[in-house]
Amino acid sequence: MNRRVVLTTRRLALTTWLPSDLDELAELHSDPETMRFVGHGRPDTVDEARARLAGYLDEQDSRGWTKWRMVDCDGKMIGRAGFGEAYSRRDLAYTLLRERWGQGLATEIGVALVDWHLRHRPYGLFDDLCAHVQVGHRNSARVLEKIGFALVDQRPCKGVPCDYFELPVEADLHDELQTPQSVDADPV
Ligand SMILES: CC(C)(COP(=O)(O)OP(=O)(O)OC[C@H]1O[C@@H](n2cnc3c(N)ncnc32)[C@H](O)[C@@H]1OP(=O)(O)O)[C@@H](O)C(=O)NCCC(=O)NCCS
Repeated sequence: MNRRVVLTTRRLALTTWLPSDLDELAELHSDPETMRFVGHGRPDTVDEARARLAGYLDEQDSRGWTKWRMVDCDGKMIGRAGFGEAYSRRDLAYTLLRERWGQGLATEIGVALVDWHLRHRPYGLFDDLCAHVQVGHRNSARVLEKIGFALVDQRPCKGVPCDYFELPVEADLHDELQTPQSVDADPV
């Protein structure tokens, strides 16, 4: 299995996962502060991280998109970002190592992912892009605002009250986005 680059930005790249990435993924999901608004709201166990990685590998194989591995310019894994499913839409998601917060990285990768979504629409289910954050998660809501998402309403996700966001008018937004350097499926 080869690792492939999904897209690049000025400071970041998203790549596909390998089974050998378990330790790095488990470390990302082991920090209580990072996990406060993610999943169960607590650190993953190693078995949960293993299931998470298996899910990402399966999604990449079966449909070609998932929450990908995020690396910095030195190739260090610093988080994950991409798409899940929520409310019958593609759902933008990102999580970074705590030491990398506050540098605009989630916003940078979010802009690139919106562009990727607009260029890789399946024309059917998952054509539309949404995002949701737990009510009160101000930092993540701020990222969505900076990318250009609009708050629609509050609705639960897996029983948790969330702020629900959509892109306003995707075609217009696309014209305004910075164009990230983006490549598909290049080997690294
Ligand atoms: C939420 C998260 C992805 C934001 O990533 P980021 O790269 O720090 O985002 P940005 O640098 O663009 O900052 C977004 C906002 O967060 C706030 N923020 C970020 N770092 C901060 C810090 N160290 N102190 C105070 N506020 C901070 C700021 O309000 C900032 O908005 P501003 O640029 O208008 O000042 C990151 O904190 C994270 O990975 N959290 C854990 C996982 C998570 O919650 N994921 C999202 C689930 S919905």
